Amino acid sequence: MEWVIAAEAIWFILPAYIANSSAVIIGGGTPIDFGRKFRGKRIFGDGKTWRGLFGGILVGTVAGMIMNIAVPETFENGIASLVILLSLTSGALLGDLIESFFKRRLGKSRGEKWLIADQTDFLLGALFLAFLAGAALELLGMTDGNWFLSSFSAWHIVSLLILTPLFHYAANAIGYLAGLKEVPW
Ligand code: CTP
Ligand code: MG
Repeated sequence: MEWVIAAEAIWFILPAYIANSSAVIIGGGTPIDFGRKFRGKRIFGDGKTWRGLFGGILVGTVAGMIMNIAVPETFENGIASLVILLSLTSGALLGDLIESFFKRRLGKSRGEKWLIADQTDFLLGALFLAFLAGAALELLGMTDGNWFLSSFSAWHIVSLLILTPLFHYAANAIGYLAGLKEVPW
């Protein structure tokens, strides 16, 4: 692995990681689906809450703003940086939410393992929404190019696909030991 590329990729995706992990710490309370069911099974389940969703987006975005002060133009500038950070953080939590929807459809209970999907849902959501946001900002003339395409090469994405599951396992093991998660995955 090319470690400089891996480090760059982690830096750019960090607000999404922070959003996802702070949702675990902040989460709880009213579930996003309000307990409602779809074809006899919960839409998302008790593991997806409003507090986790908005708390994660907020903490991840603020963290990204601090990163952008520490290393200017990591996420562009001004309004564009806010749009990019919101796309990374809400993309992460929406990816995770969509994954839960499919887990419930497959009859998996809250917290039940789903290999690969559990480890990549938030990464793919964040990358996808950041690509769309980057395209929209470029189209509107708010940035010179698509931030996503100028930040992530195919190698950056490959590094993230390899490293994210490893981080995810490590973080979840810590969350489990700290009593924040019910299962260690
Ligand atoms: N969480 C939350 N709101 C979110 C996302 C996460 O409150 N939008 C919190 C929940 O306490 C959740 C924990 O973070 O249990 C871990 O998230 P995750 O591992 O994605 O959820 P699971 O409990 O494993 O549920 P699922 O089976 O739906 O993936
Ligand atoms: Mg999940």
